[in-house]
Amino acid sequence: MCDEPHVDLERRNFLAKATTALGGLGIAAIGLPFLKSWLPSARTIAQGGSVEVNISQLPVGGLMTVAWRGQPIWIIRRSSQEISALKQVESLLRDPQSHESEQPAYAKNEYRSLKPDILVLVGICTHLGCVPTFKPEMGSLFPDWQGGFYCPCHGSKYDLAGRVFKGVPAPSNLVVPPYQFIDPNILVIGA
Ligand code: FES
Repeated sequence: MCDEPHVDLERRNFLAKATTALGGLGIAAIGLPFLKSWLPSARTIAQGGSVEVNISQLPVGGLMTVAWRGQPIWIIRRSSQEISALKQVESLLRDPQSHESEQPAYAKNEYRSLKPDILVLVGICTHLGCVPTFKPEMGSLFPDWQGGFYCPCHGSKYDLAGRVFKGVPAPSNLVVPPYQFIDPNILVIGA
């Protein structure tokens, strides 16, 4: 049986909202159920910290978030259009080949993923640790924007492979955590 992840069909940045709520209210009763949901389950601990995720309900273009080792892990199902657009922004990126970025060896490729359509990232900005916002709409940040992530704290931008743009504070691409597929629709994060 798999963990039930939060599916971010409305493309909200739920951790940013939670941070705001906790900052404004302190650790109030309203935050406790949320915090509880981020604690590892007994099964997760028994698995040595890996998290099993069923991605069968993740639509093309959608993003879902699960917790792994206290971090938000994003899983995105990219469309074929989004995959082909990755090439178009390479000249705008700081480290398009991910030479200086953190990812498993099997994700050091043009997609930064095991499968071209499924992207798995640690959803934490590599500048000072804010949680970027999912911005998949083409042209939403600037005319050549092909979709990606925007960090509201200091304006860092990442493409739909988590690669950081030039001229922003973030020094490196978003981290790709270790993961594997044990079934076409079952991902294990941390494996
Ligand atoms: S923390 Fe993301 S740009 Fe500073």
